[in-house]
Amino acid sequence: MDILRGKRLSDLSSDAADYTSSIGSDKFLISSVIKINKAHMLMLMKKGIVDLKEGCGCLQALEKIPEDMPMSPKLEDVHMNIEALVVENVGETIGGQLNLAKSRNDQVATAIRMVLREFILNIASSLNHLRKVILKRCEEHLTTVMPGYTHLQHAQPITLAHHLLAYHDAFMRDCERLMESYKRVNLSPMGACALATTGFKIDREMVSELLGFDGLVENSMDAVSARDFLVEVISDLAILMTNLSRFSEELVLWSTQEFSIAEMPDEYSSTSSIMPQKKNPVVAELIRAKTSKVYGNLLTSLSILKSLPYSYNLDLQDLTPNIWDSCQITLSSINVFKNMLEKVKFNEKRLLELVKSGMSIATELTDTLVREQKIPFRTSHRIVGMLVKRALSEGKSLDQAVKEDLADIIRENTGKSMSISEEVLGKVLDPVENIKIRTIKGGPSPNEVLRMTKERWKVLKDDDELILKKKESLKLADDRLVKEILSLKEVTKARK
Ligand code: ARG
Repeated sequence: MDILRGKRLSDLSSDAADYTSSIGSDKFLISSVIKINKAHMLMLMKKGIVDLKEGCGCLQALEKIPEDMPMSPKLEDVHMNIEALVVENVGETIGGQLNLAKSRNDQVATAIRMVLREFILNIASSLNHLRKVILKRCEEHLTTVMPGYTHLQHAQPITLAHHLLAYHDAFMRDCERLMESYKRVNLSPMGACALATTGFKIDREMVSELLGFDGLVENSMDAVSARDFLVEVISDLAILMTNLSRFSEELVLWSTQEFSIAEMPDEYSSTSSIMPQKKNPVVAELIRAKTSKVYGNLLTSLSILKSLPYSYNLDLQDLTPNIWDSCQITLSSINVFKNMLEKVKFNEKRLLELVKSGMSIATELTDTLVREQKIPFRTSHRIVGMLVKRALSEGKSLDQAVKEDLADIIRENTGKSMSISEEVLGKVLDPVENIKIRTIKGGPSPNEVLRMTKERWKVLKDDDELILKKKESLKLADDRLVKEILSLKEVTKARK
């Protein structure tokens, strides 16, 4: 007899079983569901709700379940498959107590949170490895000058370190966001049962602690209905993937013949089956594509939730795989990107050539006129604009136009002669000097970027410690659960 349907319903048709079962993605939950069953049973025994001997029978049966247990769709999900195994193992008199004072509704919400918290910590750890690689690459390129872009047009000189550190900082916030979400994920719904708790005098806090949670999702209706924690984490991942995708896109762009700023490592590129000269940045391309999949998961999850009446509906079951898919995509993307970035070759000569051939010192020239010529910024902006236009129409470099035409244009516009020394002009025209004087907080001067880099290493260390602390506390809870079960078994044995 089906332990769930009993004599209430006749057998589920096999097409309906296949259609409604969650066993496909429940593999993620098996070990957590086993732990939840153990912790809950331990609590029931300690509270005197379940007889010690019967409880021990259940615990022993739970211990025998392998983490890759086969599951039948007829039993709907991991929860019923586990209960069926226990009943099969120790009989209904004992195993029939397994689901006392709990429901699949609180159990699934709890299991999802347990798996998700591990994913969060692993993703945050991987992200921190990536941050380390970026910081190292920054240190290599503190004085590698390049054009900074706006609208993909040469804007002002910066350094490669300054550019890379911008990505680091985005990932630093991604890590912070994930750890912030962790606080809302690591709360226990157990004890909410189906939606309204139970008349048995259970101890929700005890189960929460045994499972390594930091507290409860208190309101039992909220505990079984809420999936905002899940949407929140997918949002975090969507943002993280967006940052990774932008970085990937730049690497794709930079490795084109037109830019020739970066060369992808062979190990992370492919070639063409027909065009032997090709070196395609396929890893970076796929990160862009997979980012879209995470967006899809986010939208799917929000749409599933938006019109669900409280509390549990089976629609929630279809939401869950979206988080696992997003976590797996993000984790593998970060890892492969990190390995690739370690080996990307940046072409320093080409970067300098680009910045020298462009007109990105124009802003500094404008500012210099304000300082030396004592004219308003807007007037100076107009003068340099005219100079640029003349240089372009006469096919001159900006350097050449400064030497040949700047004095004339200043006189035309202000009626005064030029009062900027050759030495000052020489510095203005040098992109390296442009960068050196940008010592303002957050600017590209090598000293300032070095200062920022050093500070980022400290933040990274703190972030790593926080993740480690969380991992250790989960491990501690796991060990405690095992020990508590052992000692309760001994107490039971002694009472015989
Ligand atoms: N398989 C379900 C899920 O993933 C577990 C909860 C089922 N609850 C129920 N009342 N049918 O959400």
